[in-house]
Amino acid sequence: MTRDDLPLRHLLAIDALSATTLDALLRRAAALRPLALGGDHGHRPLAGATLANLFFEPSTRTRCSFRLAGVRLGAEVIDFDMAASSSRKGETIGDTLRTLEAMGVTLFAIRHGVDGAVAALATDCAPQTRLINAGDGRSHHPTQALLDMLTIRQHKGEDFSRLKVAILGDIRHSRVARSDLHALRLLGTCSIALAAPPALLPDSTVSQGCTVHDHAEEALHEADVVITLRLQRERMDEGLISSADAFYRDWGLTAERLALARPDAIVMHPGPMNRGVEIADAVADGPQSVIREQVSNGVAARMAVLEALAGGQPAS
Ligand code: NCD
Repeated sequence: MTRDDLPLRHLLAIDALSATTLDALLRRAAALRPLALGGDHGHRPLAGATLANLFFEPSTRTRCSFRLAGVRLGAEVIDFDMAASSSRKGETIGDTLRTLEAMGVTLFAIRHGVDGAVAALATDCAPQTRLINAGDGRSHHPTQALLDMLTIRQHKGEDFSRLKVAILGDIRHSRVARSDLHALRLLGTCSIALAAPPALLPDSTVSQGCTVHDHAEEALHEADVVITLRLQRERMDEGLISSADAFYRDWGLTAERLALARPDAIVMHPGPMNRGVEIADAVADGPQSVIREQVSNGVAARMAVLEALAGGQPAS
């Protein structure tokens, strides 16, 4: 990474990064991959630092991988337990942040249901505090985009200028789709096809530069990468989708539909998956699925971000 790219103060959104910084983070994540899955590698640039995981929405992959990324770089990690915390007594998220700052916590991975919640905290935090947006509302999920791009690079190389990426499903409510779109554009992806029922398509500011389809089959045609998304019912008005069965019939990623993509296409899903709703078992567990690699790459991507924010020295 060059001096122009770093230090990053916070990681709030992919669209706040330059293409150079995005590339540098991805290269660092790729280099950290062998260290990411444990073992006694002795690289502890975060020794003495504390990371707090503040998750105001449920999470399995993101929360666990932030925890492991911190631990594997030598940090102490606090997992903030919502059910047992004072936010249940009415404490604001700002007061929670300041409480932990007062205990010497400097690194925060924060997930919140409100759009812009993490960016708002960034305007009023202590100088030494570093915030990572672990998902806010339907707006941003930058570390998911990093791990997704890392996974695509692993399978398709660094040149995205010939790739066709298809994104299927509930794009309207997906912060993953928004962050992936920013990253795919920054990396110069040739063609991005979006497909969803009309009620689940995003507005034109999100889909700019993409082709938009009302049949999954059109978007899948000759795709190199297929990203399917969960129906985000918690962010949806009642009645947007008639039924899970009807969605699967018309939009589910089945083996028949996947056959329209290139034979070497990879299948991605950020998780959690609703099997038999947005994806068939045979595809989720099939030879083209890289869904578990995405999860592994999540640890490496989050290590790269923590290291960059904490100013840690790269491993040799
Ligand atoms: C995603 C999220 O929370 O935005 N999950 C994740 O972080 N892996 C997607 C989802 O919940 O559907």
